[in-house]
Amino acid sequence: MTSKCRRCGLNRAEIYLAHSNLNLCPDCFSLLTERKVKNTIESYKMISKDDKLGVAVSGGKDSSSLAFILSNLYDKLDMTLIYIDLGVPEYSKHCLEKVEDLAKILGKDLVVYSLEDKMGFTIMDLKKTIYGRKPCSACGAIKRYLFNKIAYDFGLTKIATGHNLDDTVEALFNFYIEGNVKSLVRLKPYLPKTHPKIVPKIKPLIGLTDMECLFYASYKGLPIRTLECQFSKGSRSIRRKEILNMIVEKIPNFKHAFINSHYKRILPLIEQALKNQEMPEIYDCPLCGMPTSLKDAPCHFCKIVSLVKGELENKRMYAS
Ligand code: AMP
Ligand code: FES
Ligand code: ZN
Repeated sequence: MTSKCRRCGLNRAEIYLAHSNLNLCPDCFSLLTERKVKNTIESYKMISKDDKLGVAVSGGKDSSSLAFILSNLYDKLDMTLIYIDLGVPEYSKHCLEKVEDLAKILGKDLVVYSLEDKMGFTIMDLKKTIYGRKPCSACGAIKRYLFNKIAYDFGLTKIATGHNLDDTVEALFNFYIEGNVKSLVRLKPYLPKTHPKIVPKIKPLIGLTDMECLFYASYKGLPIRTLECQFSKGSRSIRRKEILNMIVEKIPNFKHAFINSHYKRILPLIEQALKNQEMPEIYDCPLCGMPTSLKDAPCHFCKIVSLVKGELENKRMYAS
């Protein structure tokens, strides 16, 4: 039996949102999705009209939906798309094509940062270092550094990423298990400026699930990648997401309840408990000049770079 959309009562419902027990037609689903993002942006005061916003686009469903929704909601907003080409064979070029198509559709500028052209190495070179066969965490650190550095160099006032509800619950779940309070406190929908060279970060999709982002991107016909990064297979974060999805099969609103209780009840208590702790000092990295918590030592990014470059140099010396 086909059911009607719960919102308009006219069209055929094509999507079922189990967490809110709603059957919706594509038009009403898209409208509600955009409204949810607008509510998130407004409740955290994420964007102001004078912002020069950088949107980190990866060619995936989340960041493509994010850029599309933002340009629909705020057509006058100064918005630049940023893509980091990590040099993963096949995958990175495929994603680049998708973000180029997206930039054309939206009529927005796209900044492409090629790790190989700018830094002289690719993610594949990390494989030869201590980061071994799973370069994902070093890759994540490189991306986080570059989002900030590119935004800072281009004079952008904020940077938005496509992290959604599933990504956030997975990360929270991990930090809880590890007891990693420092990272738990930093995982916020809006990270404000804490240093002149740190550009504020926003996550407007924090209220949307993986499935909502996927449906939204497909209904809007957005260009999204069909390849996965070769290193993502079997990663711990994917396995944690699978476990969380098994819980959701039994408790449909589990992720929403988790994130709500974290932000509304747990986090304020943790912040209260940490209130009298001294703020960690911020130093300038002696190599790149960007902020770091490490005194008289290169920042995490520069450490990775010197390690990779050292390996490449060794290889060249042995080859000659
Ligand atoms: P991930 O860490 O791959 O789950 O990506 C999380 C978010 O980071 C994405 O939604 C994008 O906003 C951003 N992102 C990831 N990879 C890239 C990339 N290569 N270039 C630009 N932004 C990216
Ligand atoms: Fe970073 Fe795959 S995209 S390791
Ligand atoms: Zn540095």
